[in-house]
Amino acid sequence: MSLLDIQDISKSFGGLQALQGINFSVKSGEIVGIMGANGAGKTTLFSLIAGHSRPNKGKMILSGQSLSGLKPNSVCRLGIARTFQIVRPFRNLTVFENVLTAVRFGRDHRKSKSEAETRTRQVLGEIGLDDRADQTAGTLTLSGQKRLEVAKALASNPNLLMLDEVMAGLTPSEVKDMLAVIRRLKDSYDLTILIIEHVMQALMDLSDRIIVLHHGELIAEGTPSEVAKDPQVLEAYIGGHA
Ligand SMILES: Nc1ncnc2c1ncn2[C@@H]1O[C@H](COP(=O)(O)OP(=O)(O)OP(=O)(O)O)[C@@H](O)[C@H]1O
Ligand SMILES: [Mg+2]
Repeated sequence: MSLLDIQDISKSFGGLQALQGINFSVKSGEIVGIMGANGAGKTTLFSLIAGHSRPNKGKMILSGQSLSGLKPNSVCRLGIARTFQIVRPFRNLTVFENVLTAVRFGRDHRKSKSEAETRTRQVLGEIGLDDRADQTAGTLTLSGQKRLEVAKALASNPNLLMLDEVMAGLTPSEVKDMLAVIRRLKDSYDLTILIIEHVMQALMDLSDRIIVLHHGELIAEGTPSEVAKDPQVLEAYIGGHA
């Protein structure tokens, strides 16, 4: 059975059709990569699923339950967490306080203060931010800020983790480290992952399946090798001169 079903989702902003009739499913335990040029509609898709904006049409179903009309906090409590492409820490709080906030408002919100603090330390260790715990979030390097986005998302205790360009701007060795973190988290927590990424090799290496968006339409879906030789994808990416 699929964990997430996206059925005929469309979203427009004024006259701009950001997404048009999108259909796909994500099975439990899969890593599904989302590819597409700037403005293809990738982040918009995450915002709709997470309840940050509303589709004009279509249905989104998590384990048989409709996500329609739910606010982000309710979607979070159902087990979906996203990271933000433009990082959104509480800049004046410490790294520890940022993650603690996510623990205390996420699915584990009933934990006691000391349980929540223990869980926060564990998350920071798993993401490799333990040595930054007392640093103010706004002073982290880009790599640290991307890690903090993942840490906050993980701290809410999701089944489905949606990662929006968490490797953008990182050095090749930081990308390698982030890939290792993502794989480790998936195994430790039995996560299902939707990941948007422009770092193509990383996306190909990580994903079981890839979905390609182009001007708001889903133009291809398949294994990384199927997608890499799909004529419509080649046309979209390199103008059909392959
Ligand atoms: N809140 C908004 N209001 C108006 N237009 C928007 C809004 N959000 C997104 N758009 C437009 O919708 C289209 C899709 O944007 P989106 O951010 O989903 O693209 P993306 O695939 O994530 O691109 P990128 O790779 O650059 O992050 C773009 O043309 C964008 O300008
Ligand atoms: Mg985006």
